[in-house]
Amino acid sequence: MPAARHPDPASLFVPVSATNAATNATTNATTTSTSPTTSAIGLAKGLTNYGDTGFSLFLRKAFIKGAGYTDAALDKPVIAITNTASAYNPCHGNMPQLLEAVKRGVLFAGGLPMDFPTISIHESFAQPTSMLTRNLMAMDTEEMIAAQPMDSVVLIGGCDKTVPAQLMGAASAGIPAIQLITGAMLTGSHRGERVGACTDCRRYWGRFRAGEIDAAEIAAVNNQLVASVGTCSVMGTASTMACIAEALGMTVPGGASPPAVSADRMRVAEQTGTLAVQLARQRLTIDKVLTAKAFENAMRVLLAIGGSTNGIIHLTAIAGRMGFEVDLAALDRMGRETPVLLDLKPSGQHYMTDFHDAGGMATLLRALKPLLHLDAMTVTGRSLGEEMADHPAPFAQRVVRTLSDPIYPQGGIAVLRGNLAPTGAIIKQSAADAGLMEHEGRAVVFENGQDMAERIDSDDLDISADDIIVLKNIGPKGAPGMPEAGYIPIPLKLARAGVKDIVRISDGRMSGTAAGTIVLHVSPEAAVGGPLAWVQNGDRIRLSVAGRRLDLQVSDEELARRRAASPVVEPSAPRGYRKLYLQSVLQAGEGVDFDFLRPPVMRGKVPGAGF
Ligand code: FES
Repeated sequence: MPAARHPDPASLFVPVSATNAATNATTNATTTSTSPTTSAIGLAKGLTNYGDTGFSLFLRKAFIKGAGYTDAALDKPVIAITNTASAYNPCHGNMPQLLEAVKRGVLFAGGLPMDFPTISIHESFAQPTSMLTRNLMAMDTEEMIAAQPMDSVVLIGGCDKTVPAQLMGAASAGIPAIQLITGAMLTGSHRGERVGACTDCRRYWGRFRAGEIDAAEIAAVNNQLVASVGTCSVMGTASTMACIAEALGMTVPGGASPPAVSADRMRVAEQTGTLAVQLARQRLTIDKVLTAKAFENAMRVLLAIGGSTNGIIHLTAIAGRMGFEVDLAALDRMGRETPVLLDLKPSGQHYMTDFHDAGGMATLLRALKPLLHLDAMTVTGRSLGEEMADHPAPFAQRVVRTLSDPIYPQGGIAVLRGNLAPTGAIIKQSAADAGLMEHEGRAVVFENGQDMAERIDSDDLDISADDIIVLKNIGPKGAPGMPEAGYIPIPLKLARAGVKDIVRISDGRMSGTAAGTIVLHVSPEAAVGGPLAWVQNGDRIRLSVAGRRLDLQVSDEELARRRAASPVVEPSAPRGYRKLYLQSVLQAGEGVDFDFLRPPVMRGKVPGAGF
């Protein structure tokens, strides 16, 4: 069963004025015979409990009138808007303009816009990692939706964790909701070369580490990588989640790709506000949009765009809130028949602005049409197929390929299993070195992030390009927060020798902007006693992407001996959110959500039985 906590959409749209008389009478007679919350819209919904519902509404109206509202304004459907502006979050730097445009759209459609703040998370400003607070933002979003009166909610997010957190929270809150993406940043230019965050950040930093460029040049690059406010300009996690949100039917058509500082983005924002009023009037609650078919469409898109591996974790968490478990084996089968069509970095060569110029999701969905559920509902109140029928006519472009001419023949992400990953691991095969995807090598082990930081660049490190680097204890509980440390740097001695890739394995995540032969999300993680915990230097490991295997060439008996010799003690914290996190966080295959935020009984799997 979905965990929706607002089971009363039928109570929408008895206007405040209809309750005013009752409220006045109630107030005048000092009785409590009226219950405005049971058949209320807008500000009459979800009244604060003073033991007298009439007084509660009377008081609420008195306070809001302090802001200068009229009774006529207060009779409108209330359209709430999450304001995730933060000086710490330049990916949301266009929030003032977006808010203005959304409010314009709400007012045009006859609603009352009410913005409210929630947590805002930026990748580079959250320590130890933004993932630690994604669930906190989801809880904030859910609880503030639940606590405040609103008939629908506009979720404005963009940076990696914000969109998944908002969709998770809104899914659990259960009211009509629509997602607005902040949009991608512009690209910059360094010595005539186009650059953008953050694939080029990593590429140039790798060149600096290898001694190919000097300090003056890396400083110059630093000025160009982020050319404007907005989200990372490649198919990283933010862009992946934008495309997923649109594929889920949660944005206006074409809502994924407009750049943050474009007129198109502001038009999308205005349309979002207008649509939010319609959503409220149609009582189109989020469970009608976030269906099994919608999740399967989103998975298709994730695979076809060569999306971030983080997209799987976030999509798993959102689906989990609606009562769907993600079947990784079925997702892998889906991947084998879903080629990568989008030629964007890091799998390809273009940037998000190019994707937008190529028609954005309309072009991609058209190319993927035979593989999609066209009858999936969207926030427009129409099916995906109906919306696609109204898409602009196709035109010649070079960013989105066809099914018969993909940039990679299978989906970007492959799911691995084996004795090193009993419940799964993944690899972004579209961004890996083809020569390393069938590989056996000697393990070079780092026990945790600190160990790696201290030794990876040592000239004494015993490593060659044929070895396999293993990094433990960066999983959901291990670091904690499953940081994007799975993109293990090439050891300096190898980088200086010109080595560009080496097989790397961890229980952590990696930025969607990164590339390499990198196995991630190894589950169960080392910190809870997964087999990864028992790998030792010199063990042989075999990776077979074609066979979907990840195996440690060590006998079960030897692994049992190692396990008994040094049992794992799971990490804990003495207080606060971190204590809650460590007590409650689930593994990667369950979206790294908290156990108490998923429904007590799941209702199915996605992809379904057909895969
Ligand atoms: Fe915000 Fe990349 S850091 S999207």
